[in-house]
Amino acid sequence: MPIFKVFRYNPRDGGEAAAIFQEYEIPDLPGMTVLEGLYHILENQDPTLAFRSSCRQGICGSCAMHINGQYRLACETQIAIMGDTVTVRPLAHMRIIRDLVVDLDPFFAQYEAIKPYLIPAAEAGAREYRQSPGERARIDHHVDCILCAACYGSCPVVGTNENYIGPHALLKALRFVNDSRDGATGERLAYIATENGVFRCHTIFNCQQVCPKDLDPTGAIGDLKMKSLWAKFTGKLRRTG
Ligand code: SF4
Ligand code: F3S
Ligand code: FES
Repeated sequence: MPIFKVFRYNPRDGGEAAAIFQEYEIPDLPGMTVLEGLYHILENQDPTLAFRSSCRQGICGSCAMHINGQYRLACETQIAIMGDTVTVRPLAHMRIIRDLVVDLDPFFAQYEAIKPYLIPAAEAGAREYRQSPGERARIDHHVDCILCAACYGSCPVVGTNENYIGPHALLKALRFVNDSRDGATGERLAYIATENGVFRCHTIFNCQQVCPKDLDPTGAIGDLKMKSLWAKFTGKLRRTG
């Protein structure tokens, strides 16, 4: 029977010293995922266990956590490949609300700050925004981000600088910079070329390594560094406010 060691913490029980790893035995069922193991605990052993999930199929991004030394989606992680012991902790760098549930507000605040929506060029008017297959292909990769925060939790720079924009938001920024329908490239590059933007990244690659969707935030940040330098030296950075 696999043993789950699950991080437990309730702020109402006291400070961080009140945090423990609690052990549970899980039935050895074929195909069982870590998320199903947590639900087994919740439904059969301990109804006080707190964790997030929704889709149970790797789409919503809500079940990212630290499992046996790596950030993963619990719903896509088979217990069978984890060995006899499965140690589960919450995502790092964010306030723990309870057990495996963290406060994602800073993560989403950084995401909102890069303006994750199309901003048409002023001259575009009311015309239809048409995009060729080739233009669409330039953003294919980046639209797959499910905002799970695994990259954010794994990045040491996020852990030492709460103002760092973060790999998730920078990857998304490139998605809009590369979008042929967007007219705010100068403004976007000006925002991400600041001291807490792309040049704060130390190219540590953790974000790329952990991404459950095989995206490449490290590569996106490198691309944005090049683009923002090019814009700076050609005078195309446009600062707003
Ligand atoms: Fe999750 Fe990958 Fe998006 Fe980061 S880039 S939030 S790891 S899907
Ligand atoms: Fe962090 Fe990824 Fe850069 S782990 S330092 S954002 S390459
Ligand atoms: Fe939606 Fe795991 S529950 S990604």
